[in-house]
Amino acid sequence: MSDGPKRLAGTVAMVTGASRGLGRALAIAFAREGAALALCARGIPALDEVANAAAGLGADVLAVPADVRSTRDLERLVALTLDRFHRVDILINNASELGPTPLPYLSEYPQAAFDDVLQVNVTAPFRLTQALIGGMLLRNHGVVINVTSDAAVTGYAGWGAYAVSKAALEGLTRTWTAELAGTDVRMYAVDPGDMDTDMHRAAMPDAVPSELARPDDVARAFIHLLTSAEPAVAGHRLEAAALGQ
Ligand SMILES: NC(=O)c1ccc[n+]([C@@H]2O[C@H](COP(=O)([O-])OP(=O)(O)OC[C@H]3O[C@@H](n4cnc5c(N)ncnc54)[C@H](OP(=O)(O)O)[C@@H]3O)[C@@H](O)[C@H]2O)c1
Repeated sequence: MSDGPKRLAGTVAMVTGASRGLGRALAIAFAREGAALALCARGIPALDEVANAAAGLGADVLAVPADVRSTRDLERLVALTLDRFHRVDILINNASELGPTPLPYLSEYPQAAFDDVLQVNVTAPFRLTQALIGGMLLRNHGVVINVTSDAAVTGYAGWGAYAVSKAALEGLTRTWTAELAGTDVRMYAVDPGDMDTDMHRAAMPDAVPSELARPDDVARAFIHLLTSAEPAVAGHRLEAAALGQ
């Protein structure tokens, strides 16, 4: 936490999947830096706990229970957020689904699970961004961060739909960035690296927690990206570990 001026004061940030893991860490880090927050996840008690913790740090917080696969929930999330804050300056498409565990090979991957993973990890970021980017363009100001993974660029056996979804998310980021050329609205795909979270435990139960990054440290790298005096070139795939804290 910085003791100096709050670096996100006056900004409104939306974080999907804010109830645990990286999303929770981002919500708390953004609150400490003075951002107003729109948070969503499906699990209400955990979401409320994060919202209360962020509010305790002085943040203006809106917590909206939402399943990002649901059109109705996404519309409600956007409508409630714009009603409360009138804009979103920072959108973090963080909510993500790993898919079935133990990780099945593609030859055996259940179709319904494949569709589900793509809906959460690609379609929802697309739809949420589409809903919010018009306002960012009107103000010629805004940042969208799509949280990706090295599975997007490396073929790990068993990572099936998740890997496909993150590759697609990075494609979405590159294409949208080209379409945003000439504006001050930026989009990034950020790979947080291996972190000690529920998702990592589900995917790799034998991993040694102390060898994994802490979500709080990764969140600091996101703050660095958002507040750096010399912004990174948009559209690029960035690794949190290389961003600095
Ligand atoms: N952990 C790693 O090592 C690692 C490595 C590379 C990339 N990543 C990426 O980093 C991001 C955060 O991962 P994490 O490890 O923090 O994951 P996590 O611990 O599994 O947390 C995922 C969050 O997303 C929410 N979520 C899941 N499905 C949702 C849905 N349908 N609608 C709304 N919210 C939903 C969850 O809350 P509810 O279940 O209550 O909805 C939870 O808040 C993800 O994009 C992930 O792909 C993680």
